Amino acid sequence: MSLRSCRNVTVLEVAPVGQLKRPDEFFEIRLAMPDWDGWKPGQFIMIRPTSWDLDMLWARPFSISAADDESLTIFIQKVGRGTARIASLKAGDEVAVWGPLGNSFAVEPQTPTLLLAGGIGIAPFRGYVEQHPHPENIRLFLAHRLPLDCYPYELLSRRVDSRCMIEEQPCDLDRIIASMREQIAEYAARDGLILACGPTPFMRTVKAFAAELGARAQVSLENRMACGVGACLGCVTRDGDGHHAQVCTKGPVFWSDKVEL
Ligand SMILES: Cc1cc2nc3c(=O)[nH]c(=O)nc-3n(C[C@H](O)[C@H](O)[C@H](O)COP(=O)(O)OP(=O)(O)OC[C@H]3O[C@@H](n4cnc5c(N)ncnc54)[C@H](O)[C@@H]3O)c2cc1C
Ligand code: FES
Repeated sequence: MSLRSCRNVTVLEVAPVGQLKRPDEFFEIRLAMPDWDGWKPGQFIMIRPTSWDLDMLWARPFSISAADDESLTIFIQKVGRGTARIASLKAGDEVAVWGPLGNSFAVEPQTPTLLLAGGIGIAPFRGYVEQHPHPENIRLFLAHRLPLDCYPYELLSRRVDSRCMIEEQPCDLDRIIASMREQIAEYAARDGLILACGPTPFMRTVKAFAAELGARAQVSLENRMACGVGACLGCVTRDGDGHHAQVCTKGPVFWSDKVEL
């Protein structure tokens, strides 16, 4: 990424996702489109509101969910100080954005493709579905803890075969894991492609089942990041050979057998 890719852009809209069931927790933010040549689903941006002072030094990473000539959309779940302050931005505020960063998910138009999303891990799959030349070859599975309309699920379920399961009680987790295993086995048998995004335990489950069942799977990691461009080493993981790899530049997407989790 060149310095040219860091731009101050205007916030166009900050809107709660869905039917306002969790108005304080999930937001869709539209930003004025920086002058990018292009982007690919799986890539991300770093955002730092220009109003942040030294008490909030580091930008925060978010998946690019959608983009067109005018705007760039991201979905945010408020989990801490940074996301709370990003959620309180208003139309007209200015943010520094650098990106598009990192690599992207594999696209194999004719291959049966299973998207496994854990919670807000659904965010990059909106762009994936919208850019895919054959969405009829895609199935989406969302495992979620909060009400379904907190997530951009309905939008995707209009375009691709979609399933979801909620985790409300401990026994639900067993059902979700069993369903993931069944679906990964199905796609392994069809020589399909499996793409996963979600919290680390979710990624570990996908990696373990892919290894056991011989499936081709990619996992997108959400390590803590500070610089987003490979310089600070804050996001380092180990690749399949045990070497250090920056998630921001070598990832965030890794083949599941080529990364340690
Ligand atoms: C490549 C990438 C893409 C991402 N895409 C999205 C997205 O599309 N939407 C979205 O809502 N979030 C996404 N995240 C996660 C998001 O960056 C973090 O939730 C955010 O940086 C937390 O900032 P905070 O200051 O609010 O939290 P903090 O105050 O720093 O932390 C609050 C809590 O959140 C946890 N936390 C902080 N950072 C992360 C993280 N990276 N992953 C998991 N837990 C974390 C902390 O351990 C702590 O418990 C992505 C992360 C990466 C690396
Ligand atoms: S976030 Fe700085 S090296 Fe990855």
